[in-house]
Amino acid sequence: MSPDQRSSFLAEHVDRLARTHLRELLKDATRGKRLRHRLGPLLLDLSRQKLDVAALDALGAHIEASGWQAARDAMFAGAPINTSEDRAVLHTALRASGSKLPSPAPREALDEIAETLKRIDTLVHAVGLGDASAFGVAPGITDVVNIGIGGSDLGPRLAERALAPYHVPGLRSHFLTNVDGQSAYELMHQLDPKRTLIVMVSKTFTTQETLLNGNVMRDWISRAYEGEVTAVSRHFLAVSANVAAAEAWGVPAAQVYPMWDFVGGRFSLWSAVGLSLALAIGCYNFHALLKGAALVDDHFRTAPWQENLPVLLSLVELWNRNAQGRGSRAVVPYADLLMDLTSYLQQLEMESLGKQVTPQGKPVAQSTSPVVWGSVGTNAQHAYFQSLHQGTDVVPLEFIGVVKPAHHLVANHDALLSNLLAQAAALALGKTVDEALAEAKQGSDEERRVLAAQRTFPGDRPSTVILLDQLTPESLGALIALYEHKVFMLGHLWGINAFDQWGVELGKSIARQILPALENEGANISAFDLSTQVLLETIHDRRLT
Ligand code: F6P
Repeated sequence: MSPDQRSSFLAEHVDRLARTHLRELLKDATRGKRLRHRLGPLLLDLSRQKLDVAALDALGAHIEASGWQAARDAMFAGAPINTSEDRAVLHTALRASGSKLPSPAPREALDEIAETLKRIDTLVHAVGLGDASAFGVAPGITDVVNIGIGGSDLGPRLAERALAPYHVPGLRSHFLTNVDGQSAYELMHQLDPKRTLIVMVSKTFTTQETLLNGNVMRDWISRAYEGEVTAVSRHFLAVSANVAAAEAWGVPAAQVYPMWDFVGGRFSLWSAVGLSLALAIGCYNFHALLKGAALVDDHFRTAPWQENLPVLLSLVELWNRNAQGRGSRAVVPYADLLMDLTSYLQQLEMESLGKQVTPQGKPVAQSTSPVVWGSVGTNAQHAYFQSLHQGTDVVPLEFIGVVKPAHHLVANHDALLSNLLAQAAALALGKTVDEALAEAKQGSDEERRVLAAQRTFPGDRPSTVILLDQLTPESLGALIALYEHKVFMLGHLWGINAFDQWGVELGKSIARQILPALENEGANISAFDLSTQVLLETIHDRRLT
């Protein structure tokens, strides 16, 4: 048992369930009902998690005793729960317009959000009609490039691809994120500078990658207009909480759309950070996305823990991470349109929950964020599923499927879904030695035994299935909000601040120190550690060859 498990109040349940195979647990229909829930367009099936009703209730009692409802209400009401930055956490207020419940968020925040949404709507509408000159945008735009990174990229990128069937005709979307110049280079070859609209998205407007890529694209557009500043500025919009910096960079004030300190980057899709998405799918669909998220907000605010989907997801993660000692979780969407979901969740979950001290500066009592990884099925089956079935480590999986596809290729879709269902079943049920022996018909007893050992599957490997009726703006909004609230719950249960990200700062500041040594070969590098010195010298040497 891991230290987490030994100290856990769940130890007796871990012991009991270690002796019970998922094959047995799956026979219990009452248990199945407790672990399978529908919310609007989503079905959450946790029945293949290694939990019985007693373990589920023990976890539920733990969560009930944690004061989660008061913590949740404090977030919705705008209390400064991001204590290390003294900020409220109000991404839920961004979609309050779609909620059936009155929002407890501060009036001022709600008003600013409503005003910004209106600005986005009118802009998107005007671009759709082909003339957004009143908003400072050049005529004839055919391509929109979102420049941003992390939360200023992953959400719009995920949703833009996921909602490809909803795209408005005549406008293509692109995402420029990494500081690697390759993508900017390729975009400049592909696009017409006079028909390109750049949306600079940066909450801080200080992010190196975004500003460098912005500079490159601005120079490219500027060359097309022979440096005429006003003409160039008509190809830029910005989204930022640092309006002054966006203006100073060169985006006219009227073309800057606000975001706020009370919205964290990785929770910001619903704000003006979703501007390039709104341009891609139109206002109606953007509002539908907000509505889908609001459905989950209302549910999270009102459902008891036994039926509360985000709470149940957090309960399962707590079980797998702390009681079962699982260090990672694979997210495998069986939908090419959701191919960016895993990287989106990596930031949402690992940047939020990868913490080792409490807001009081004390070490946490248990392990926190598992490593989140994965890629689309069925491709994943032909890459790493061997290890998930027969490797020595148990990795909980999350399968995400879509019941009705956005195309008419029924045979493909049935094959896709059958694979999803088969993998979840195979991981849970496995194949016993006796079953493998029965299949091995040829050879001596010893040869059959040897082969059967290699063809045995332990099974008993946990997974969750999330089924969307259809991939629509509503269901996507609901799916993302489900994960957001799971993250909130885990931050609360682990006693960490899920809304700051100090862990990304050290690397950034060292990169700032290293950059001059790369730019200038004669720079004094003796202050760097020996490995860095040797690598810097190698880069300088090799550049010359
Ligand atoms: O990687 C750290 C981080 O601050 C993320 O939290 C954020 O989403 C990303 O950088 C981009 O930041 P900004 O929107 O300020 O450019």
